[in-house]
This record gives sequence, C-alpha cells and structure tokens, in this order.
Amino acid sequence: MIYRKMGKSGVRLSAIGLGSYLTIGFKLDEQASRETVRAAYGAGVNFFDTANAYNTGESERVLGKCLAEFPRSSYFLITKVFSPMGPGPNDRGLSKKHIFEQCEASLRRLGLDYVDLYMCHRPDPDTALEETVRAMEDLARQGKILYWGVSEWPAELMVQANAIARDIGARSIAVNEPRYSLLYRYPELNVFPTTAREGIGNVVFSGLAHGMLTGKYKPGQEPPRASRMDGEDTNMVLKAMYWSEENKRRGQELVQLARELGTSAATLALSWCLRRPEVTSAIIGATKVDQILENVKAVELVIPQDVGKRLDEIFPAPKIPGS
Ligand SMILES: NC(=O)c1ccc[n+]([C@@H]2O[C@H](COP(=O)([O-])OP(=O)(O)OC[C@H]3O[C@@H](n4cnc5c(N)ncnc54)[C@H](OP(=O)(O)O)[C@@H]3O)[C@@H](O)[C@H]2O)c1
Repeated sequence: MIYRKMGKSGVRLSAIGLGSYLTIGFKLDEQASRETVRAAYGAGVNFFDTANAYNTGESERVLGKCLAEFPRSSYFLITKVFSPMGPGPNDRGLSKKHIFEQCEASLRRLGLDYVDLYMCHRPDPDTALEETVRAMEDLARQGKILYWGVSEWPAELMVQANAIARDIGARSIAVNEPRYSLLYRYPELNVFPTTAREGIGNVVFSGLAHGMLTGKYKPGQEPPRASRMDGEDTNMVLKAMYWSEENKRRGQELVQLARELGTSAATLALSWCLRRPEVTSAIIGATKVDQILENVKAVELVIPQDVGKRLDEIFPAPKIPGS
C-alpha cells in the first residue's frame, strides 16, 4: 500500500480507501462485512468511508463494529451528514441543529468518541454557508471531529467556504469527495485545479462506475446474477448514469488494454484515477474479498504513456464549455 498526504493536512491516507454504500450493513451481513473490512485492513487500507444515510445508519453501525477490533489510531474514518434521516423539517440539511444532532447519532452508531473527518454530503442552498462552517468548527473544538470536508460541492462554493473560514478564524475544508472515473471526468475541469490551489485533498468515489469499468457487464448480455446491476435495490445509479451498450463496449476495450498490461480492467481503471496528483485516495466498494485484493493492486500499476493516450481516446476528457 502507499499512503498519500490529504491535501495540505499532515495526515496520510491509503491510496485505496474502503467505502460502505450499498455493501457494508446492506448487501453484506455483519460477517461478510467483517471479512471485507479485515481484507482491506490486512492489505494496508487505513481509510474507511461511510455516511449517516447509508441504509439509514445501519452501514455506520456495522462498520463501527468491524473496525472495533483495530487500534483507533490505525485508521481514519469519514462519515457524512445532509441526506434526510427522518420525516421532520429539521431531519436533513446542513443547519447547525441537524449537524450537531447527526454527529452525536453517528458517534453512537459507530461506537466512537470522535470521527476523523465529518463531511457535508451535498451543498445545502437553504442554510447560510457561515452557519455550516461555524458548526464544523464548533464540533472540532469540542473534540468530536478532527477535520471537515465536502462531497460533490461546486468549486466556487468550496472557495467561498474557505474564505468564510479564514474570516472567522475557523478550520478550512480538508477534503473534497467527488465522483471520478474514466466514465465521469468532470472534476478535471474546475474541481481539481481549485482544490489544488486551496490545499484541499480529493478522495474520489465510484472509480469503477459501479462495476461498469470491470468488464463484467458485456454487450448484448444480461448482468451477472447478484451483481449490483442485478438488484433493483442496488442498481438505481448504475442504471441512470452508465447503463448503455456503448459503455459496455468501452468496458470490453478496457479489458483488452488491461490484458496487454498483464492486469485487470478494475485495477487499470483505479490506477488511472490515482495518476492525478490532486487525488489522495480512490474509495472502492466491494462485495467480495477477491475484489478488494484485485483493486488494491492499482497502487502498484504505472500506466505507460501510450496506454494513457488510448484510454483518452476511448474515454475522452470533458471539454470546457465554449472551447
Ligand atoms: N460522497 C458520495 O456522495 C458517495 C457516493 C457514492 C459512493 N461513495 C463512497 O464511495 C464508495 C465506492 O462507491 P461505489 O461502490 O459506487 O464504487 P465502485 O468501486 O465504482 O463500485 C463498487 C462495486 O463494483 C463491484 N466491484 C468492485 N470491484 C470489483 C471487481 N474487481 N470486479 C468486479 N466487480 C467489482 C462491486 O459490486 P457487485 O459485486 O455488487 O457487482 C462493488 O460493490 C462507497 O462505498 C461510498 O463509501 C460516496
């Protein structure tokens, strides 16, 4: 494993992190979850990602139990706040009230005294940015969180939040969590250049586009049994964002390129995410131990220039509007 600095902060995260969306405490029962967490930890993964909303707290509960067997200082945990956790008007968003209450609830479910990094899962246009920045600062001063971060925030909003933090003497954003893969390259336009300037790290998610970049989904064929696409309770994002014959065909081209390098499509796709200096870590999801062992190999792979060019041809970079 290799460990990379989280933006300008002194902390180092494994270049592959293990996430829990649709897997730990959802598709995987407690025993299967424990096996994936042990496999990841055994491979050197020191960074785990969850959210209050993943299976309405159940992912946090199961992940917390799995991590309890390791020394607290040996791993870094992110959890998140924003998505609805109940029917009430204050059961969602980034108000100070909801942030404080959900932080307490997450700590209880995880069985922890503090979370390493508390993340705003999405922007909340209904709450003044200063209220959110102050809430994060207050939680940090109470020792309940060490750092704070954002997920899928536009670049300008991160700049505004950091300017407020500077004005009021609060902590700035330590990490951003954007979607990033060969099939979703938009962070290259504004997000990566901005976070580099602001000293914000990036822990990117869905680097395999929910499995589309593993080659397991083949043109003209039904999805494999028990895969993410096979379940109505797991396939919503995959279906909405990536499911097309064209993407399945591109997935097979990726398999071919990977074969030429003596590796797998999943390893190549994740290694491609890690080639960017702005990326601290790629957060993977996994339903099997073998997937973890295959995916962590991404940290060792160096992509030759000619292969990088062919990847750009198959999965073109997005264009800046108007250029
Ligand atoms: N901040 C956010 O808004 C946000 C959003 C989404 C995710 N995340 C975080 O990022 C993590 C990863 O997201 P993701 O699960 O969408 O990532 P992903 O890595 O793109 O997809 C993971 C899924 O692909 C399949 N897979 C993984 N490795 C494979 C391999 N080597 N061969 C074949 N299939 C493989 C598995 O599904 P099957 O075996 O079921 O097919 C696995 O659950 C989440 O757990 C979560 O912690 C954050």
